[in-house]
Amino acid sequence: MKFFADTADTKDIAELFAMGLLDGVTTNPSLIAKSGRKFVEVVKEICGIVDGPVSAEVVATDHADMMREAEVLRKIADNVCIKVPLTIDGLKTCKALSNDGTMVNVTLCFSANQALLAAKAGASFISPFVGRLDDIGYDGMELISDVRLIYDNYAFSTEILVASVRHPVHVLKAARIGADVMTAPPAVIKALFNHPLTDKGLAGFAADWAKTGQSIV
Ligand code: E4P
Repeated sequence: MKFFADTADTKDIAELFAMGLLDGVTTNPSLIAKSGRKFVEVVKEICGIVDGPVSAEVVATDHADMMREAEVLRKIADNVCIKVPLTIDGLKTCKALSNDGTMVNVTLCFSANQALLAAKAGASFISPFVGRLDDIGYDGMELISDVRLIYDNYAFSTEILVASVRHPVHVLKAARIGADVMTAPPAVIKALFNHPLTDKGLAGFAADWAKTGQSIV
């Protein structure tokens, strides 16, 4: 499963990429606002750090304006992936851009039927938001299983990008289901390192090593 970082924080992105943990990045208007930086400038910097897809989201709601925004965004770098919402205009834009060879990530997906539409419109990625579904009492990961089944039934090449990931269990379940990608905040990716037995084991080894009075270098 590929790992994308869901952030516009370039320091975190560079750190995770240097560890070999990042295959791409997703941003959205809220994350750009949180960064306090200019949209085009920050996307350009991210594209220079990672070599995988970097999602940059349009903010227009009608097809013609989405196409105009996409035109600006896709010129930033070859690895920009245009993010469009799962609306009629969003999918018209998805079809036009994918026909043209541009990567498209269809975002704000909350049902398997929506995911089916995005695949038919030629999306490179579909982003079902598991955390936001959990928040309103649904099982977000059930949606991922449904989309996996449907995409496999018809051999769609659209990659399932599990989004709105809130904790390590989401990551584990996404991997078990066979999602293609998951995107998570850097803190969630770093939390995957944690295990109390690792910490306990390390402390035990350090204590025993101290008793030997030796040093390696
Ligand atoms: C995905 O591309 C979105 O940016 C993101 O995962 C949304 O997550 P949230 O529901 O935690 O805001």
